Amino acid sequence: MAQLAVNVDHIATLRQARGTRYPEPVAAAIAAETAGADGIVVHLREDRRHINERDVRLIKQVVQSKLILEMAASSEMLGIAMDIKPDCVTLVPEKREELTTEGGLDLITHQDQIREAVVNLKNSGIATSIFIDPDLEQIKIAHKIDTDMIEIHTGAFCDARTASRKQKEFIRIVNAAKMGVKLKLEVNAGHGICYNTIKAFKGLDEISEFSIGHSIVSRALFTGMEQAVRDMKQLIVAL
Ligand code: PXP
Repeated sequence: MAQLAVNVDHIATLRQARGTRYPEPVAAAIAAETAGADGIVVHLREDRRHINERDVRLIKQVVQSKLILEMAASSEMLGIAMDIKPDCVTLVPEKREELTTEGGLDLITHQDQIREAVVNLKNSGIATSIFIDPDLEQIKIAHKIDTDMIEIHTGAFCDARTASRKQKEFIRIVNAAKMGVKLKLEVNAGHGICYNTIKAFKGLDEISEFSIGHSIVSRALFTGMEQAVRDMKQLIVAL
């Protein structure tokens, strides 16, 4: 059965919108775990637009499952990761002007930088994942780089507006997941997944973990965090 890693970035987005001390991402992380989350995810961005270092440190202290830190492979972020020591780092591309992470890491271009980051993180006892598009060439390079895991970018599938586009994008995800498992990588998936799109993954047993944030935090506004996580967990259990 696939696991659910809950991203609490957007609890911090709401806090930063007004510069208040609430809502508290640490409380959201605890609620998510209470409701059955198998891991907590935070993205520490260069511009600190939502999660800050204090959040990462506190969540690391309270989390009982695992902490997954999403970050760029910059020297600043590598220093922070090696100091805080999350259970896993997911390396992502990052542009200041983007609304959210817009695509997977291009390993054809950044292979050397990412390999070096993976080596350093693994030497510090931190498991590594690389966020990549469902592209077979990218997956082969991820394997060569010797990362523990990959996270397949599901955004193009989730955002597709037509059935034919959705189907095309989903086939890319299926092929990528199968190739990843064949290469003995742990395969995770995330970005843009909501309570509807998750259902498409039924039977795709190659995926070990789903990383989901925005849709869960959005539902939590109406149902509370625990119920929102429970609802998503139930859909994943049914896959
Ligand atoms: N995985 C990665 C690598 C991400 O960058 C994000 C967004 O922070 C997510 C998963 C979660 O995406 P969403 O918030 O759309 O569920």
